[in-house]
Amino acid sequence: MKYAVLGTGMVGKTIATKLISLGHEVMMGSRTSTNEKAIAWAEEMGENATHGTFSAASAFAERIINCTSGGASVAALGAAGAENIGDKIIVDIANPLDFSEGFPPTLSVCNDDSLGEQIQRAFPKAKVVKTLNTVNCMLMVDPAGVPGEHSLFICGDDDDAKAQIRGLLGEFGWGPARIIDGGGISFARGTEAYLLLWTRLFGALGNANFNVELHLGETINAAD
Ligand SMILES: NC(=O)c1ccc[n+]([C@@H]2O[C@H](COP(=O)([O-])OP(=O)(O)OC[C@H]3O[C@@H](n4cnc5c(N)ncnc54)[C@H](OP(=O)(O)O)[C@@H]3O)[C@@H](O)[C@H]2O)c1
Repeated sequence: MKYAVLGTGMVGKTIATKLISLGHEVMMGSRTSTNEKAIAWAEEMGENATHGTFSAASAFAERIINCTSGGASVAALGAAGAENIGDKIIVDIANPLDFSEGFPPTLSVCNDDSLGEQIQRAFPKAKVVKTLNTVNCMLMVDPAGVPGEHSLFICGDDDDAKAQIRGLLGEFGWGPARIIDGGGISFARGTEAYLLLWTRLFGALGNANFNVELHLGETINAAD
């Protein structure tokens, strides 16, 4: 499978490196075609790895993974171009964190909207699948890095796209029973807002290597 990994930060590099190790072809995208981090990554990875602009990477790919800064994601995907994105799946890992007032951050979009929904509205033909944004990037590609059957969330409006990305998550090591489907893309309001708790847990624990595990008890308050 051909992937565009949009983003040259630690998330983009971690996801792109994992995809290469799984035998996929990856073009890492950034704002320029001369990004030093993207060039160094492609040289290190070898023949299945290339780099280019957001636009070139999105044109190359069958699937697009958004690993850009949350506040810039809509602009980055705009630079990728609707004509290159088309009806492809966009896996959105970004969080709309605003660090302008320091740590812990606030959310630049929340409550009655989310970044996932903003991206879906900006690219209505694309199939936006939000996932992986609630764990640190090492855990994204190596869930065994934390013990237990801890949980991952997925949401998006297109069921076939979610099924395809469940397959990718399986390649990353996330077994099906651990993946909780929250429904449509508006569920991203919840998983993005969870970062308000995640960042505070990070501050309290002094460790980013943690995750939550959801357990269901006997059903209560269900509409029969
Ligand atoms: N760190 C984690 O473990 C973790 C976990 C879950 C979710 N996330 C989310 O994953 C995303 C990536 O995080 P990160 O720490 O790897 O990288 P980051 O520093 O948040 O973002 C880096 C990328 O954003 C692009 N970018 C920045 N400003 C831009 C602008 N004005 N216009 C267009 N593109 C712009 C950069 O482009 P250039 O390459 O051109 O500089 C770069 O590729 C974030 O949304 C973050 O919230 C991170």
